[in-house]
Amino acid sequence: MSERNAARRVRVWEVGGGRQSPHIRLGALDRRARVAEPIGVAHKVKTDWAGRRVLVAGGLGFLGGALVTRLVGMGAQVRVLDSLLPHFGGSPTNIRSVAERVEVLVEDTRNRDAVNRAVRDVDTVFHLAGAAGPDTGAGDFYFEIDVACLGTWHLLAAVRCFAPSARFVLGSSHLVYSPDCAAPVGEESHTGPDTIFGAHQLAAEAYSGVYGRAHELDVVIARLTTVFGPRQRLHNAAFGSLARVFDSALHGEDLRIPGDGRQHADFLYVDDAVDALLALGQAPGARGLAVNVGSGQSTTALAAGEAVIAAVGRGRIRPLVDGREESEPTGRAFVPDLARLRSLGVSAPIRSFEDAVRETAAWYLGRPT
Ligand SMILES: NC(=O)c1ccc[n+]([C@@H]2O[C@H](COP(=O)([O-])OP(=O)(O)OC[C@H]3O[C@@H](n4cnc5c(N)ncnc54)[C@H](O)[C@@H]3O)[C@@H](O)[C@H]2O)c1
Repeated sequence: MSERNAARRVRVWEVGGGRQSPHIRLGALDRRARVAEPIGVAHKVKTDWAGRRVLVAGGLGFLGGALVTRLVGMGAQVRVLDSLLPHFGGSPTNIRSVAERVEVLVEDTRNRDAVNRAVRDVDTVFHLAGAAGPDTGAGDFYFEIDVACLGTWHLLAAVRCFAPSARFVLGSSHLVYSPDCAAPVGEESHTGPDTIFGAHQLAAEAYSGVYGRAHELDVVIARLTTVFGPRQRLHNAAFGSLARVFDSALHGEDLRIPGDGRQHADFLYVDDAVDALLALGQAPGARGLAVNVGSGQSTTALAAGEAVIAAVGRGRIRPLVDGREESEPTGRAFVPDLARLRSLGVSAPIRSFEDAVRETAAWYLGRPT
């Protein structure tokens, strides 16, 4: 194979710098992926959502859809506000099993009137409307600023006016922390993002904190690590996401791992992320806090890649040690301190990282686990 062709076959994992994902046809893969549903497990977090009125902004996305599905299963009255713009991972299929019991507003958080209508009379707001992570394909900073900042502001202002006692849970990211923080990184650690995405998340956090304190709102900030699982989109997946690893493996392509591959990351299975969000949606002690949300199962980039390749049955690791890749922010190590999360009643995940990877691979491959 020529150098050029070999380079084309290499998919990049955790390498930023504005590079776009190569276009890949996923038709066949997607069709098969619709066959299998994720296997349910007993969830450890006990929260009572029966009869609660909940707004999930971004509720047709990967994370939002999983949350909506679980909330409906627990008897909540769920309203979704989602723009379904193509830059994001939103799809009605993400709530397919409960769609008839959900009120869906295909609207944008940048539309203040729509947000006011959506927030009216709810008990809880989960704000998951935004980019999943760095470089997900929008490529327009003004648009991203509007979604991250204006969208969050509209939601906060609407909560103040139309649902002042509602809990407001902001889906934020570990990328708000400075890359220089020593592991494990606690919530009081230095913030100082080195990605635009992280800067947007930190701005949304700041608005939520300042506005929440000024108007005595019940705000909680969930700083999620890297979430993965069934239904996460492969095309234009965020840099640093496990979806990029799955994408490479599923297409039998080389998987480039930045640095020496020994940097530790925390990958959080979507069911466990939902558990944590549900807990943060109700735990009285969470009010006013930023809370790290992770699995606590620290995994090296190399081990994560190997687990995906083993589960998918194809793909090949090609570690890269060169200056550029090593310096990319999403290739850096991150291990969260989860003491605060645990103190709020969210225990460690039931399944291992490898089992969660197998379950995810099975979904992508469309075969039952
Ligand atoms: N997936 C992760 O690993 C991860 C990690 C940390 C934080 N988060 C945060 O969680 C949220 C959801 O992530 P995801 O992985 O589900 O992404 P996703 O792209 O799958 O879902 C985002 C959803 O938000 C909707 N949306 C985007 N902008 C909107 C707007 N202006 N108005 C209304 N709806 C809008 C999209 O249509 C989509 O359905 C994001 O805010 C992200 O920053 C995700």
